[in-house]
Amino acid sequence: MKDRRDHYYWQAKKLGYRSRAAFKLIQMNEKFNLIKKGDWVLDLGSSPGGWSQVAVELGANVVAVDINPMKPLENVHFILGDITKAETLERIKSFREKFDLVMSDASPKITGVWTIDHLKSVELARASFSIAKEVLKVGGNFVVKVFQGEEIQKFFNEIKDYFHFKKFHSPKASRKQSAEIYFIGKGFKLIS
Ligand SMILES: C[S@@+](CC[C@H](N)C(=O)[O-])C[C@H]1O[C@@H](n2cnc3c(N)ncnc32)[C@H](O)[C@@H]1O
Repeated sequence: MKDRRDHYYWQAKKLGYRSRAAFKLIQMNEKFNLIKKGDWVLDLGSSPGGWSQVAVELGANVVAVDINPMKPLENVHFILGDITKAETLERIKSFREKFDLVMSDASPKITGVWTIDHLKSVELARASFSIAKEVLKVGGNFVVKVFQGEEIQKFFNEIKDYFHFKKFHSPKASRKQSAEIYFIGKGFKLIS
C-alpha cells in the first residue's frame, strides 16, 4: 500500500494539528481572508478537529458538528450529529443563531467508485449549504468541499447568486490526485 504520509502529514504532527487538512484551511484563509478575530465559525464535518484548531488560533469561537466524536478543544462547542438531518440544524440554532463563517470539509466514506463518491459528496455539500442559508449572517462567508464530477456545475448554479464573490479553489495542501475542490463564497446575501 502507498504511504500517504507526506510533507503536510509531518508538519501537522510537528505543529500539533489533528489533521493535515488543517493546512488547507490555513492556505485558503491566507488567500481569501475568511476568518477574523472574534468571528463565530460553524465547522461542519469537523472531526478530528484540524480546521477547528486553526479557526480557534485565528481568534474565532467555533461550533463544530460531526457524525463521529471529536476530542474536546478549548473555545469549541461540539455537536455529535448528522448534517443531513433537520434536528442537527435545530441543535446548532439552539446553541447559536448566526455565524460569520460556515465551513464544511464533510466527506462521505469513499467507495472508490468515482460517480458514487461524487454524488454523495454533492449531497453533503447541499446539506451544508442548506444549513448555511439558515445560520449565515448577511455578508458572511461559506466554504464547502465537493468532489469534482458532473453535478458540480449544477451545484454552483444553485448557490452562486447567494454570494457577492464566488469561486472554486484547490489549496496546495490538497493531494494532487484528489478529486476534491472547495467552493468559496464571500458576502452572503438573501435572495427570494
Ligand atoms: C475529511 S474529514 C474532516 C477533517 C477536518 N476538517 C479536520 O481538519 O480535522 C470529513 C469528516 O466529515 C464527517 N462526515 C461525513 N458525513 C457526515 C454527516 N452526514 N454529518 C456530519 N459529519 C459527516 C466525517 O465523519 C469526517 O469526520
